[in-house]
Amino acid sequence: MLKDKTIVIGVTGGIAAYKSLEVVSRLKKLGANVHVIMTEAATKFVQPLTFRSLSHNPVIVDMFAEPQSWDVEHISLAEKADIFLVAPATANLIGKVANGIADDMLSTTVMATKAKVVFSPAMNVNMYQNSIVQKNIIKLKEEGYRFIEPDKGYLACGTEGKGRLPEPEEVVASTVSYLLSPCDLIGKKVLITAGGTQEDLDPVRYLGNRSSGKMGYELARIAKARGANVTLISAPTHLNKPSGVKIIKVRTAEEMYQQVFRYQAEQDIIIMAAAVADYTPQSIAENKIKKSNGLTLELERTTDILEKLGNEKGEQLLVGFAAESNNLIENAQQKLKKKKIDFIVANDISARDTGFASDFNKVVIISTDDQIEVAKATKLEVADRIFSEIAKTLV
Ligand SMILES: Cc1cc2nc3c(=O)[nH]c(=O)nc-3n(C[C@H](O)[C@H](O)[C@H](O)COP(=O)(O)O)c2cc1C
Repeated sequence: MLKDKTIVIGVTGGIAAYKSLEVVSRLKKLGANVHVIMTEAATKFVQPLTFRSLSHNPVIVDMFAEPQSWDVEHISLAEKADIFLVAPATANLIGKVANGIADDMLSTTVMATKAKVVFSPAMNVNMYQNSIVQKNIIKLKEEGYRFIEPDKGYLACGTEGKGRLPEPEEVVASTVSYLLSPCDLIGKKVLITAGGTQEDLDPVRYLGNRSSGKMGYELARIAKARGANVTLISAPTHLNKPSGVKIIKVRTAEEMYQQVFRYQAEQDIIIMAAAVADYTPQSIAENKIKKSNGLTLELERTTDILEKLGNEKGEQLLVGFAAESNNLIENAQQKLKKKKIDFIVANDISARDTGFASDFNKVVIISTDDQIEVAKATKLEVADRIFSEIAKTLV
């Protein structure tokens, strides 16, 4: 996926430096050429040797050390980079870049690059909330630097709060989203639904479906990377929360309906990628249903959220998904007309290596006057293609 891409990773002196080892390893597995620059402080936490072994490239720490080649190294890496990730990014490094200080190899190379720069801050919650750190972050965002928001949770210093480096998988997904996507949705509000709803039968059982939620989560990542203000309404999944996205967790089709219409009016773009149950039990048994009693299920229709959105939408752009196992295009086109949707993303769920639970998808993006086939690609790449089509209609 990242063949021919060069990613430079800056590692600074935070306790989360060990997580960057996994970030480097994952980016290598995706095919990227990875170079690591460490600060002196970072080398107190993790050995350059470990990064060298994982990246298969020399690690640079000392700006004045004998160079590995005739290139001026900070300039050569600054030019080579398709994207520059600093993870973890200390308060110190953020402060230096925000104020134009270039006094070591990492801060100098960050300053010299024209590539997109992404900071993944990680620090103690009080440090993160310090108004000087926050002002530096705002200043850098205004200058076009991108950020992966830290997670809330248990911090190595023994406190709880916002400041944790997200899991390496999430740092990689956000970095790749920033790499793939232009920043063309700034100021737009995007609502995305994801996952499969669960309709309760009794206190322990439910009717569900096999949607993993991956497609919706990748759409949320790409929308965020393109600069949108993203709300993700998610039915249960096992996925990491996309960084910087507002997430609302629901279980049932009714809860999904209530939350979508709570946020619907203020959105510029709504994408219904969730697999919402069409039917729900007429009543939920108070106690666990005993097998000796036999079981007949009486079901009733849930609200068709997509159709209702189509009927009530104004200028808003509405995107639906059609998971079909036969007559893919025909069924999707019918859905497009019936529900007054701007785009239908049709995917063939009968294919074994794409669709539900897979990391890959193969779709056709259908609008009233066009039909674009997207060849098999990762769900993140497919999400990016979907937003490229959407973005064309916004200009
Ligand atoms: C054990 C330990 C853990 C630290 N963790 C962090 C951290 O998570 N985030 C941070 O901003 N600074 C942290 N620091 C402070 C930085 O190491 C210090 O500010 C240093 O000057 C950063 O240098 P650098 O930005 O050049 O890497 C920690 C220091 C120690 C001793």
